[in-house]
Amino acid sequence: MTKKTIILGIETSCDETAVALVQDTDNDIPKVLSNVVSSQFDIHKEFGGVVPELAARSHVEKINLLANKAILESKVKINEISGVACTSGPGLIICLSVGLNFAKGMASTLKIPFIGVNHLEGHALSPKLHTKLEYPYLLLLISGGHSQYLSVNGLGDYKRLGTTIDDALGEAYDKTAKILGIEFPGGPKLEEFGKRGNPYKYKLPKPILDKGGCNLSFAGLKTAILRTSKEIKNEQEKFDLAASFQKTIEEILHVKTEKAFNEFKKINMTNKYNFVVAGGVAANSGIRNKLTKVSEENNFKPIFPDLSLCGDNAAMIAMVGLEKYKVKNFDSLDLIANPRLALDKNAKFLKGAGVELK
Ligand code: KG4
Ligand code: ZN
Repeated sequence: MTKKTIILGIETSCDETAVALVQDTDNDIPKVLSNVVSSQFDIHKEFGGVVPELAARSHVEKINLLANKAILESKVKINEISGVACTSGPGLIICLSVGLNFAKGMASTLKIPFIGVNHLEGHALSPKLHTKLEYPYLLLLISGGHSQYLSVNGLGDYKRLGTTIDDALGEAYDKTAKILGIEFPGGPKLEEFGKRGNPYKYKLPKPILDKGGCNLSFAGLKTAILRTSKEIKNEQEKFDLAASFQKTIEEILHVKTEKAFNEFKKINMTNKYNFVVAGGVAANSGIRNKLTKVSEENNFKPIFPDLSLCGDNAAMIAMVGLEKYKVKNFDSLDLIANPRLALDKNAKFLKGAGVELK
């Protein structure tokens, strides 16, 4: 039997320190040998958001411990590891640097390849950890920092079809949660609040719904939430506002996803259309249900990562590392963190800047 490739992956781009080991298999679905994640919620919650210096310090304190834990759990001997993959961007530069320095040190000590991974590509390919997935497919990436529709054409080959022109969807959830007095990161708890409320109680705006193709905008919604929250008199009305917010998001994604389906079909001729929804917000059950229905109505197959793979983790980073290892796409130890690393390097518009809204 030939020796199977084993990649150790590291993720420290924001407020999760994570290490995982994945192994190549014969069936195209890598085996996750271990996947350890340590969140910093407790460190940042009193500040209502991630404090970069505290996040980086915590990564420094934990990374060695977590790497040892991941290796121990995987039952792999250190000299069996074939390569070390690490997120090189996007993210907080001082946090990315902690993971990168550790990964480079490990790769050079073990004399094995070092592979820089785009964090967003980790999310984009995350369902490949449990599902066979052929290119091209349509991706909706919804996380704390990004909201984009992309045509995923191959490893490292992305065409952006739409993006947010202001806030990311996770940011909209977190800011709405904060307004309602929910601790950071409020997305998951806001979803729970919404389940107890009346989604028809408040009418909220759906910015650029009928223009801007499948670009997205959530800033106006947040302003409306802030204004409406001042009228709230009791706990039940908080639940009602959360439910109305959740319903509004589902309606926006319904309309914009149908636009993205059309855009995707214009550039991809295939008889099998797959639609992947990934990133932290893809854990939201209301969004999952709505997008499953919309996909089925439009002959797209909806694919969601397992819940454990929606949030930041290192299994997805190790898996992209494995794909890159197979095509010998290694990096030099000179690679530096890129806080603005993009998936579609040709996409012209940055957040908020100049998106055509005809
Ligand atoms: O992908 P992720 O873990 O980190 C980034 O790369 O940004 O995404 C984190 C975001 C946060 O904004 C969090 O509130 C949101 O995902 N999130 C959710 C849910 N679970 C996590 N938002 C809505 N509903 C959820 N169930
Ligand atoms: Zn992420």
